[in-house]
Amino acid sequence: MRLMYPLLSSFILTLVMAPAVGAESDFVLNELCPPSFEKMDDGRCELRNLYQLYDSLQGVGVGGTQTALPAHRDGFTPQQIDLGRYLFFDPALSADGSISCASCHHPDKGFSDGRARSVGIGGHEAQRSAPTLWNVAFLKRLFWDARAESLEEQAKGPLFHPHEMGNSEAQLAQTLNDNPVYAALFRQAFPEARDTIELPQVYTALTAFQTSLISLNSRYDQYAHGYHAALNAQEIEGMNVFRSFVARCAECHTPPLFTNQQIAVIGTPEPDGRALDIGAESTFDAAKLKGGFRVPSLRNIAQTAPYMHSGGFETLRDTVEFYTKGRGHAVPEGVDMQLHWHIWEPNLTDYELDRLVDFLGTLTDETFKPQIPQRVPSGLTPIDHLPDTTVAETKKTVKGESS
Ligand code: HEC
Ligand code: HEC
Repeated sequence: MRLMYPLLSSFILTLVMAPAVGAESDFVLNELCPPSFEKMDDGRCELRNLYQLYDSLQGVGVGGTQTALPAHRDGFTPQQIDLGRYLFFDPALSADGSISCASCHHPDKGFSDGRARSVGIGGHEAQRSAPTLWNVAFLKRLFWDARAESLEEQAKGPLFHPHEMGNSEAQLAQTLNDNPVYAALFRQAFPEARDTIELPQVYTALTAFQTSLISLNSRYDQYAHGYHAALNAQEIEGMNVFRSFVARCAECHTPPLFTNQQIAVIGTPEPDGRALDIGAESTFDAAKLKGGFRVPSLRNIAQTAPYMHSGGFETLRDTVEFYTKGRGHAVPEGVDMQLHWHIWEPNLTDYELDRLVDFLGTLTDETFKPQIPQRVPSGLTPIDHLPDTTVAETKKTVKGESS
């Protein structure tokens, strides 16, 4: 898999040496599948992972560490994946060219944005915090409240929401069709399609790119596959707490994805002054799901503070401590919330909470982080890598907002 790097750097070199944006030939889509994908005879990329060697114990309790992953999306061509990468980083997809998917899903912030609530076009604040996009290929339903059933459907949310990217279908189609570079790239990615760029191709390409964001080679995974020295003693203690029937974390955050993908009502607090977010109650029109959210994956969780749908917890320690502060302690008075039965009073000690945080840190793996394109077909400026200081600054802002 390391073989990819020399290839990638020669690709970057080509881009750097290329003349100014404009000529169609400047942009050539990658013909190689991303790392951890194998190119099949028909040109499509299929995921290859050690977990595929294990039997599925899905739905049979917590199971061991060597358990199969849930079904996933793959089978896109390298060209579709690479086109999706350009689209993902191109602010031209927003109404005024100010914001791209990557503005809120930044690769250097675990494909989140470090904010309690994302900020969209014109400075509008989103209702919730931006989830990571690592391993979205495995998710059956998207969004905190599980309201989208596919990545293609999900993409329309931010693109056309007046407070996120604020675009319209007509304007998006026109922007792309007016751009000769995109016209050429879409022909490379969809050779059998007609000459005009159609919006479903945009959704397919964005989906193709996002399903290539695979994070399954963390130190935890090395341990799970049998290399026990990958975790130190304290991390193993944390893992044992995590999987214990006292803490019950693994009942919902089920390995290997660290989510069972179900909706759970756990009663997390809203930051001061914010109304209760009813979550999945509105998706399924079911009062018993009031305050319910899809159990989030904990992969790369150390990279995506602040936490929960509301971004209400700034650190992992605060987040983990929520579970031991008493069942329903944050449910507003008078609200009838039907808390999940695994939410109870585990009475975890400070020592155990610290070990849980240690363990969550072993779920970090960003080896297959994709390249941020230096230039995008529109000629607009894509997001840049972040200096480390921005993390601290964003946190300060978040604090200011909620006080
Ligand atoms: C203004 C910030 C913003 C922009 C721009 C944005 N997103 Fe998001 N994204 C969010 C927020 C906030 C959520 C969670 C919303 C919710 O659950 O109600 C989200 C959720 C998602 C999810 C669901 C993940 C999950 O675990 O369920 C996906 C996938 C996603 N975005 C992809 C994209 C793509 C693709 C684009 C560009 C077309 C994009 N986003 C643009 C903020 C943004
Ligand atoms: C009953 C199911 C359930 C159990 C048990 C559970 N969780 Fe969660 N967890 C959730 C749900 C649902 C959310 C999202 C809640 C929200 O946003 O309001 C969540 C969120 C989190 C988050 C934040 C994720 C993010 O992306 O912001 C962390 C960290 C976490 N849980 C860790 C744990 C730990 C550690 C334990 C054990 C002490 C645990 N969970 C037990 C369902 C559960």
